[in-house]
Amino acid sequence: MRLILTLACLAFLPLAATAQPKKEVGPIKVIKLERKDPISYEKDVEPIFYKRCTVCHSGNLKEGKLDIATYETLVKGGKRGTAFKPGKSEDSLLYKVMARTQKPFMPPRGEEPCTPEELAIVKLWIEQGAKAPSGVRPRKEILVGLPPANVNPVRAVAVSPDKTTVAAGRGNQVHIYDAGSGTYIRSLIAPGLKTFDGKAAKAAHLSIVESMAWSPDGKWLVTGSFREIAMWDALTGEQKHKITGFAHNVVAIAFSLDSKMLGVSGGEPTVDGEVKVFDVPTWKLIFDLKNGHSDTVYGLAFSPPDMMMVAPGQKTPDPKDKTTKLKTIPVKLIATCSADKFVKVWNLADAKFVKSFEGHTHHVLDVGWSGDGKLLASAGGDNTVKIWDFEKGEQARTINAHGKQVTRLFFIGKKNEFLTGGGDNAVKAFNSTNGGNIRNFAGGTDFIFAVASSPDGAVVAAGGQEGVVRVYNGANGTLTRSLLPPDAQPPIKKDTKKK
Ligand code: HEC
Repeated sequence: MRLILTLACLAFLPLAATAQPKKEVGPIKVIKLERKDPISYEKDVEPIFYKRCTVCHSGNLKEGKLDIATYETLVKGGKRGTAFKPGKSEDSLLYKVMARTQKPFMPPRGEEPCTPEELAIVKLWIEQGAKAPSGVRPRKEILVGLPPANVNPVRAVAVSPDKTTVAAGRGNQVHIYDAGSGTYIRSLIAPGLKTFDGKAAKAAHLSIVESMAWSPDGKWLVTGSFREIAMWDALTGEQKHKITGFAHNVVAIAFSLDSKMLGVSGGEPTVDGEVKVFDVPTWKLIFDLKNGHSDTVYGLAFSPPDMMMVAPGQKTPDPKDKTTKLKTIPVKLIATCSADKFVKVWNLADAKFVKSFEGHTHHVLDVGWSGDGKLLASAGGDNTVKIWDFEKGEQARTINAHGKQVTRLFFIGKKNEFLTGGGDNAVKAFNSTNGGNIRNFAGGTDFIFAVASSPDGAVVAAGGQEGVVRVYNGANGTLTRSLLPPDAQPPIKKDTKKK
């Protein structure tokens, strides 16, 4: 919000300095819009408010007690009451002050009045029922250039459920490899991708690929970057869909085990954590966490499909009482973890807070749910993995997992086993039930950002700062392939020279 305000102020200053209409400007001309498609709040109306109104009607400054920063606050109205009546522009204060037919005229004297086009959009929006934003709202465009060519850390990896393919997010590229032979197959290229100065970009995203997940049914590969995610057909590598307008980098992506839900998280550092869940494959927004965390949400995990929880409103029986059993109900939950040091659990059906787990002494960088639904595991910037008993709502154990921050925690399919990657170059596997270190994957020489495996754990992939993806045999921990960027692959020798 602070950023948007600053931008709005900057945009305003030159205007105020040059064109200051001193006289009160009368009614704005009413024009009819030639439009067939419905007016969209987020695409058509909100940009006008951000350009003309939110400098004085948002944040600390809510003139007339009216906050225009979001649809929800605008609905609440100001000190004169309701700002608009859906369907009736002539009965709407918001419209009349903009049209300058009722005082206080808005924007006030000294500011540039609205154009007839802007007024017509707001009028039509009210007349069409003043509909709320339909989902993820696009924010102010931020100009992103391409990252420099030498920035190529691997920040995300994914392994296809059938174990044949490994995807590596490297810089703003996504490289697809054959998991067995290590052969480079293709790069994912976003159609029509252009930088702000109009240069064509051959990449998956403009900015760095921060997160990635393969749907358990094998159909989708989803990648996350600055303010956007892209859904790719996992078989053809074709981009099928894209959602933009996230608050900041999308740093984590997770699918539910039944592939029916896609969760993404991120958020503007130190401001708010963002968590959104979409229905697959309609990509409709079905869960949108607001003010759930006070900082970036680094990880998220869905509860297993057959999850049961003690129904609320029951008295805990006396420990000696062996006959009374608590009633349990099926639930769909989501766990989130954040730089605010908390792990929290939410009910997907009503977005209600269920439980929180506190104990990490630094950022919580990832979270996972055990296959049996009984335990959660979280990865900390404090070098530990903490295991939490979900039902009891308490810490079960702490594992001193890595010598540096634990950057990634990945549950293997429906098992009670997970992989971790650390800033200490190590990749490990643990048992969530007893906390045992099952296996170590050697060979890492750099800060590990990304770890993933096939659902059966047979193929494990990890990558980090140096840009190399290492593929392991998950059963015994041996390194099977090192995947380099395609242009760095040793050239295949062809027998073209005459002997
Ligand atoms: C330069 C600051 C400024 C800008 C820009 C501005 N307003 Fe205002 N607005 C005010 C002030 C000050 C008041 C209180 C005036 C009063 O109550 O008489 C106000 C009051 C209002 C009210 C009445 C609220 C109530 O319930 O009393 C509405 C509606 C409103 N503004 C809408 C808008 C819209 C829409 C825009 C953009 C098109 C806008 N304003 C831009 C300063 C501003």
